[in-house]
Amino acid sequence: MCIVNIREAKLRDIGDILDIEKRSFGLEAFSAKFFFFLLRKCGNLFFVAEACNRVLGYVVGCIEGEYGHIYSIAVDPAFRRRGLGSKLLEKILEEYRQMGVKKVILEVRESNVTARRFYEKHGFRFGGRRKGYYSNGEDAIIMERII
Ligand SMILES: CC(C)(COP(=O)(O)OP(=O)(O)OC[C@H]1O[C@@H](n2cnc3c(N)ncnc32)[C@H](O)[C@@H]1OP(=O)(O)O)[C@@H](O)C(=O)NCCC(=O)NCCS
Repeated sequence: MCIVNIREAKLRDIGDILDIEKRSFGLEAFSAKFFFFLLRKCGNLFFVAEACNRVLGYVVGCIEGEYGHIYSIAVDPAFRRRGLGSKLLEKILEEYRQMGVKKVILEVRESNVTARRFYEKHGFRFGGRRKGYYSNGEDAIIMERII
């Protein structure tokens, strides 16, 4: 049994991150180019969960104006519901706290009930709606939390 370690993402992790991203979001997955950009721009807010030298999940965010934004979080489908997503989310929230950020926001597909439950469990609440935010025309629900 390996211990789960949450650490900053590195260049060499992008392949594993992309693999989890594609298996989690299919055609809507972020591109490698976008992850490289995020690593350069917000590397201090990009974390992976690793066990037995294997990347099992990641979270990435960036400061936007006065808010902390969470861009994406995903866990390898075979390792979900074991607390990894929570560990990753808690890590980025802690990082934002240390940076003095007071409010964290994110967008989630209206139909993504699993993620919405996950965020609610972590104290995020409805903060609005972005009409037709996704490429298939689906609305995004904005969720926010004061930290
Ligand atoms: C959302 C996600 C990151 C959660 O990761 P995870 O490691 O499975 O989450 P955890 O095990 O830490 O779950 C914490 C809590 O979230 C809620 N939750 C998680 N998965 C759930 C599900 N399938 N149904 C209902 N509630 C769920 C539960 O309250 C859970 O606590 P519990 O297990 O004690 O009941 C994961 O499901 C995922 O990768 N989804 C696909 C990518 C995605 O949609 N990302 C969000 C985009 S905005």
